[in-house]
Amino acid sequence: MAKSPKEEELKKASYNLLLANRRRVGKYQYTIPSPQTYPYQWLWDSCFHAIILAYFSTDDSKRELLSLISKQFEDGLIPHMIYWEKSEAINIKWGKDGTSSITQPPMLAYAVWQIYKKDKDLNFLKEIYPNIFRFYNYLLTDRDPRGHHLSGIINPDESGEDNSPRFDIPLSLPPDQTLDESTKKRVALVEKHIACDFRIKDCMRNFFWVKDVPFNAILIENLKNMENIAGVLNLHKDVSFFNKAQNLMKKAMRDLMFEDGIFWPTYGRDYKRIKVKTWAIFAPLFAKIYSKSEAEKLINNHLLAPREFLMKYPVPTVSGDEPSYDPDGFWRGPIWMATNWFIFRGLLNYGFYEIAQKIKQASFDLIIKNGFREHFNPETGEGQGAENFTWGTLIVDMMEEVNN
Ligand code: GLC
Repeated sequence: MAKSPKEEELKKASYNLLLANRRRVGKYQYTIPSPQTYPYQWLWDSCFHAIILAYFSTDDSKRELLSLISKQFEDGLIPHMIYWEKSEAINIKWGKDGTSSITQPPMLAYAVWQIYKKDKDLNFLKEIYPNIFRFYNYLLTDRDPRGHHLSGIINPDESGEDNSPRFDIPLSLPPDQTLDESTKKRVALVEKHIACDFRIKDCMRNFFWVKDVPFNAILIENLKNMENIAGVLNLHKDVSFFNKAQNLMKKAMRDLMFEDGIFWPTYGRDYKRIKVKTWAIFAPLFAKIYSKSEAEKLINNHLLAPREFLMKYPVPTVSGDEPSYDPDGFWRGPIWMATNWFIFRGLLNYGFYEIAQKIKQASFDLIIKNGFREHFNPETGEGQGAENFTWGTLIVDMMEEVNN
């Protein structure tokens, strides 16, 4: 199906936004999520940018990712923020070596694989492989010190959903907290990490230690991409390493997170379940972790349930029947384009085209109505937060998928 003129226009506007938000420092080129609000380079944002830029110029996608890995830590961690240039737009600065020193959902291998699928450039795969190998190996080892096959996060910001109610219990905050209260707690965590000298095994995980559902589901999907990349590079040992790691992780998610048809995040060393319904319950669709019949039930009982996730505009990040639900709250109800994209991709994995198409259409309508805003009220469709925010460009991938 050909794209409509409005779709063509939005594709062009998406590219223009990525170009307008492009920055260069020395030999590095990257894209900032929003000039007014987010003036640095962010990890999963850059992966989204790379995925979308690949529709226009795989060279630019590669440059985005090469900038991102340039600040990799010795232990393999890739930081979630790189402060390339000074800015007054954000007043929290944490971490070391010009970076935040914590990480974010590991979408790198997925982005690399999308680029490779478009231009079959083996040299780029060879160039980036050692860095991404070290990153995933770090997440599978340092972030899993007891070998239980789930990767832990040490700060809510590592989930990419800074203030999600999934983290209220581990942070000891009530559902009706203010953003300020949560920010204070998250910044205090960073201070503790600095005091730990960033040692994870015996220190950092003593304060906040969550096995999150999207983080682990995204990791599993990316390990599949690592398996594919290693295959193209004829690295047979790595192929089996990444294959085995995926299977062990899928089993661990079942053993430690699955209850009542849903994967729940856990906290602490004894895997206490956090039964708060957010979009995270759909994230395993992205890595095909639910069986088809489990997925069907999940969709009927939750995604399409009017008191939960079926709102005028889908998909709210928090279920309407949660006490923390707030259609204007930061990560506490509004729609983000990246979460819509993960759910869209997840639904397609199982052949649920019609619902996927509805999510694509709602995302499209929201952007047409409001422009590239950071998030949107699921009841009124009103745009909120940062302006000229790049995540809306993920609509390009949704449109290409539906039209092909
Ligand atoms: C906010 C989001 C985070 C994102 C960053 C830059 O902090 O919660 O996921 O990476 O903004 O867009």
